Amino acid sequence: METERIYLDHNATTPLREEVVESMARVLRDLPGNPSSPHREGALARRRIGEAREQVAGCLGVAGRSVVFTAGATEANNLVLRGLLGQGASVHPRHLVTSTAEHPSVLAPAEDLEKGGVRISRLSVDDEGMVERSGWLEALEHAPSLVSLLWANNETGVVQPIEEWAEEASARGVPFHVDATQAVGKWPISLDQTSIDYLSCSAHKLNGPKGVGCLIHRAGPAPSPLLAGGGQERGMRGGTENVAGIVGFGVACELAQGELAERMDHYQRLRDRLWDALKQTLPSVRRNGPDPSAVLPNTLNVEIPHTAGDVLVEALDLEGVAVSAGAACHSGSVSPSHVLVAMGRSAQQAQASLRLSVGLGNDSGQIDRAAEWIGLLARRAGAENSDAG
Ligand SMILES: Cc1ncc(COP(=O)(O)O)c(C=O)c1O
Repeated sequence: METERIYLDHNATTPLREEVVESMARVLRDLPGNPSSPHREGALARRRIGEAREQVAGCLGVAGRSVVFTAGATEANNLVLRGLLGQGASVHPRHLVTSTAEHPSVLAPAEDLEKGGVRISRLSVDDEGMVERSGWLEALEHAPSLVSLLWANNETGVVQPIEEWAEEASARGVPFHVDATQAVGKWPISLDQTSIDYLSCSAHKLNGPKGVGCLIHRAGPAPSPLLAGGGQERGMRGGTENVAGIVGFGVACELAQGELAERMDHYQRLRDRLWDALKQTLPSVRRNGPDPSAVLPNTLNVEIPHTAGDVLVEALDLEGVAVSAGAACHSGSVSPSHVLVAMGRSAQQAQASLRLSVGLGNDSGQIDRAAEWIGLLARRAGAENSDAG
């Protein structure tokens, strides 16, 4: 008999909500038009995209016209970084401020840009994963041309005081980009009350489809397109739109907006229950990150001394529990998480860490069973060495 799966990897991706599936199926079945076509079929597809744009914008508290649909947050991050600082850059001097604990979809384009002569300042994070304020204030003094920081870290869930920092950047006329991929749907966001100029997010982190997301462009220069073509998305993203994906994204955003308080409460109760259970069963377990009030309510990153996270992930998988040993993008490689290393953890500590991220489908019974399995398998893997000692 197939064991019941307990999915605790919602920061990697989330299952689709039924309402999302239905909305997408309707588009695939009933809306054959190209949204750029002038005829009725085209107009119907165009109208659905317009509605989805308003739903996404509503969830983020911003005007619909600032939404630029992309194929996800990786593309949105690349669009803003390369599109502003790449060849033919629209901002000067070419100087990007970011941090050492960013997602690879910011770190990698930043590295490419650096090879092309762009100055990159990488701010350090402290042992709790918060970007160091002293470095931030110093970087601002150099009047950089763009800041790009995570709102919430995908591995630790650590939430930065992004609104305050965007305000400080704005006071000096510095454009501010935030990767809010993990924050949207799990943390209150009201962009029009902030000084954030650009924001990236992705549908599949909030129970929408994979392969669709957006860049919000509220103010500041428009990035040059990565994909030049038919002039779609105000010229910032050429190519016929992924109509079904965009519609699913819109529905996912509307649901997330309406259910935000309820979701945050549900996630936090489960996450805290998991932490309490783990502390009971594994006294040596340590939390990677600050006080939970500054962490996404669904995320728990823990170090279980004397274990190997990747081995534990495999063993848990066999028992029906899906967790992550680091960012999903790193799986398949045993290199320690750059985020935990940036927080000052040794390679060994980072490799003994697990990321547990709860979501809509989880309940307390699942949490209790998962905690039992983690305790049992971690002890079997060697965690009792430290607990006994
Ligand atoms: C913080 C963050 N940024 C960007 C991405 C990339 O998003 P996508 O999968 O839509 O390209 C992810 C996904 O793991 C993420 O967690």
